[in-house]
Amino acid sequence: MRPMTRRNALILGGVGIAGVAVGGTGLLMNQGAPSLSPSDIDAGGEFIEPTELRSAGGALAVTLESAPGQVTIAGRTVRALGYNGGTPGPTLRVRAGDTLSVSLRNGLTDPSNLHVHGLHVSPENNSDNMFVTVPAGESFDYQYDLPANHPPGVYWYHPHQHGFVTDQVFGGLFGAIIVEDPDPIPADRERLLVVSDITISSAGTVPAATSMEKMSGREGELVLVNGQLNPGMTARPGERERWRIVNASVSRYLRLRLDGQRMTLLGIDSGRFESARDVEEIVLAPGNRADLLVTGASGTSVLRTLPYDRGSSGGMMGGGFSPATDDVALATLTVAGETADEPAAIPRQPTPRDLRSTTVTARRELVFAMGMGGMGGGMMTPTINGRVFDPSRDDETVQFGSVEEWLLTNTSPLDHPLHLHVWPMQIVEQDGQAVETAIWQDVVNIRARSTTRVRIAFEDFSGRTVYHCHILDHEDAGMMGIIQAR
Ligand code: C2O
Ligand code: CU
Ligand code: CU
Repeated sequence: MRPMTRRNALILGGVGIAGVAVGGTGLLMNQGAPSLSPSDIDAGGEFIEPTELRSAGGALAVTLESAPGQVTIAGRTVRALGYNGGTPGPTLRVRAGDTLSVSLRNGLTDPSNLHVHGLHVSPENNSDNMFVTVPAGESFDYQYDLPANHPPGVYWYHPHQHGFVTDQVFGGLFGAIIVEDPDPIPADRERLLVVSDITISSAGTVPAATSMEKMSGREGELVLVNGQLNPGMTARPGERERWRIVNASVSRYLRLRLDGQRMTLLGIDSGRFESARDVEEIVLAPGNRADLLVTGASGTSVLRTLPYDRGSSGGMMGGGFSPATDDVALATLTVAGETADEPAAIPRQPTPRDLRSTTVTARRELVFAMGMGGMGGGMMTPTINGRVFDPSRDDETVQFGSVEEWLLTNTSPLDHPLHLHVWPMQIVEQDGQAVETAIWQDVVNIRARSTTRVRIAFEDFSGRTVYHCHILDHEDAGMMGIIQAR
């Protein structure tokens, strides 16, 4: 603990009066007051992880209660949102073939619901159904049956109630889901790093976003790992750590580096490379996850996120957003001590499926644009194929069992990360360039004024679900469509 400065004393004093909830999410709005900046907050505490709940005998049953409350973020008690009182909520660790049952209790003052991002499960009934609404104060019992061949990896859960998603995720509602490997990957240690961003006012609350922030996608002033600012970790030289990194930020792209130590990437999202590859940098759009091995060399290294240029809305009417220009420290790894024995070899993974040699049965194009009107006050409205989300309209109907190719065209000056529920996408062309290897992701970035091409196998589950931009402010503004596979 640092000695308490007068500024800190004032901030702490402010927390006590923050219990009066106003406005939609139960957060105390306090615009105009200066917000907490990283230097006001104790950084560099010891790395901690959320509570982990693990399946046994093929089942995991949990209760998740979303509620506003005093949540400890970056070592400070603030009035934010959490699942079971935590940000992130508990980690759910399951295996392929398991049944995951979640009783969601909505303790917010707004409607909410639950989405298991990236899981390959049914979108119907009480499974990953996006058309379920859980009113304030009510509960809903979800049940997800993971297929026996469900891909291992890191997934996550978060609310998905249209119009409320960004405030709820930004406020602190998210948690990780780990699907274990059928054959364990030898590592000395496993760590989960859920990266999020948030802004905290000096009153210890989360301020509402401005319409400008909503247009570009709000980015929080503090970038947190498991709710902490720049926590510290230690390892010995030669030790191999397994890091699972979730980008739970609502709009912020992560461009991760860990100079001085070795990073070996196993895969992104549910996609797994046949052989792990050494990387210098990992870009995660909002919603993406990295499954990574870190081998300690020596010395102290900072896991940093570098500025990522996701375009600019400066040219738009009422514009003014431009990307950050500074690195942000996420966590610090100190490698010291006696050199560890060399870890066992990383087993080769199954050859990923490759749809490039498959016959495509249908093609379609989705155009992502920032159109005029809608958001009011001369702001731009994000659209797909010229339309905003309408819960009563099926935008795309695909044949169950088919393989489709989608051309994703972005005519706007901002990147849009496309996310499709239930069925992962294979990227066959990125920024107009053919992709050399089989890359599978559930969030695929479409660069500003560029195109990306994907192939999708509509298999295993039929039903009605959604695809949308994972800049969650864009999703809430209507950059989402409904897809039906039947
Ligand atoms: Cu992570 Cu439809 O969302
Ligand atoms: Cu999702
Ligand atoms: Cu977008």
